[in-house]
Amino acid sequence: MNSNNLDKKYVWHPYTQMKLWNNLENIVIKSGKGFSLIDSKGRRYLDGISNMWCNVWGHDRTEIIDAMKQQLDILPHSSLFGLVNGPSVNLAGRLTSIAKGMSKVFFTDNGSTAIEAALKIATQYWNNVGKTQKKKFICLKNGYHGDTIGCMSVGYVDGYFSPYKSLLVKTIKVDSPTIRHEKFGRQCFEQYIEKIDKILKKLSSKISGFVMESGAQIAGGVNIYPNNFQKEISKLCKKYDILLILDEIATGFGRLGNMIEYEAQDSEPDMVCFAKALTGGYFPLAVTLTTSHIFKEFLGEYWDKKQLFHGHTFTGHPVGCIAALTNLDLYQKLDLIKKIRHNASVLNRLLEKFAEFDICYDIRQKGLLCGIDLRKGRDPIRMIDNVPIGQYIAGESLKEGVYLRTLGNIITIIPPLAIGQDDLKKIVDVEFGIVDKIQKKLNRFSKDKFV
Ligand SMILES: Cc1ncc(COP(=O)(O)O)c(C=O)c1O
Repeated sequence: MNSNNLDKKYVWHPYTQMKLWNNLENIVIKSGKGFSLIDSKGRRYLDGISNMWCNVWGHDRTEIIDAMKQQLDILPHSSLFGLVNGPSVNLAGRLTSIAKGMSKVFFTDNGSTAIEAALKIATQYWNNVGKTQKKKFICLKNGYHGDTIGCMSVGYVDGYFSPYKSLLVKTIKVDSPTIRHEKFGRQCFEQYIEKIDKILKKLSSKISGFVMESGAQIAGGVNIYPNNFQKEISKLCKKYDILLILDEIATGFGRLGNMIEYEAQDSEPDMVCFAKALTGGYFPLAVTLTTSHIFKEFLGEYWDKKQLFHGHTFTGHPVGCIAALTNLDLYQKLDLIKKIRHNASVLNRLLEKFAEFDICYDIRQKGLLCGIDLRKGRDPIRMIDNVPIGQYIAGESLKEGVYLRTLGNIITIIPPLAIGQDDLKKIVDVEFGIVDKIQKKLNRFSKDKFV
């Protein structure tokens, strides 16, 4: 049986209606070259979403691949349970040197588990200091932090998670602002902060931590925070003795144009999580960083039971840690952040032409994160040619040689961070063509309706 048939017979794909999947051509990716993925028929797809927002250097960066191969020859894995390995120690040192205020690194193997670890650390921290009533988490509406139960509780996206509601822990959810296109006029965030201040004032004795994505929400709809919003939240957390847990899993490492987003936002977290781009997107590795203030409360005698009872088989994986170290070397050597900032302004200019479409309700962009919000009037467009719009756009993009997904009616352009300008332009041009097609289809539909 070939891979296509084996896939349809045995594999269950994430976030996928498998009944629809089985009626579609399933594309089998065989190799990667530059910023493209190549399928079993030799067709190339330019990666418009950096392999679920994690790829940095494209799909064949030899420095990282060679370092991983060498590490596999020396030591394929040795965990951090009772032992140490060189790459994890070096990576911990390196990360704490670039992430201001952080002094300890806890290793996991994906973004969700990094967040779960942070939630457990926060909960146990308050237990260890004797404030056991501080148990609740507060978080932003439309935040997303992963698919495990703790993550869904603090990052509840109704469109995805309503079937699992009964499993979730109760959290306090507050509104958050988003920067919109200038046509929407001046936007203030002060009233959001005032509301949050009131809630924290009332409930701070019960609240353990404030969990939010750093800089912007992606899965919840590409919502970019206004300047100073995160800074004000950080101040409130200090004022009310609440731990600030920042999720930089998707927005750190340059996605928004800054290596460490919380520093650019002038905020001071007690914990921060990184994953995705940490290894250049080449290995599942994640980290939860904490301050010494948190860490010291976990020290005590063995039977005090203050130690963190959390750990995964692949914790501190040496191959992942070598990939991350080599990735960080490349960031420095090639001054990637500068290149990202330049390409962000190129992307900004390329996006200007979308304004001509009535259906482009809003275009939100920061760094190499972009969301094009397609609506008819104020209503999100749901179906095109009797197919859900996301599926339509993904399918049309593949036909044009671009791998891209949407968040429902929002086209997301989230390319590999080191992408070149020609490839960036190609992705934007393909999406422009698809939006044009949708606009024409809707215009035709409206005319037919009124004839
Ligand atoms: C902001 C954010 N946090 C957490 C996660 C979860 O990461 P993972 O899919 O590696 O579990 C994601 C994944 O997209 C994310 O975007």
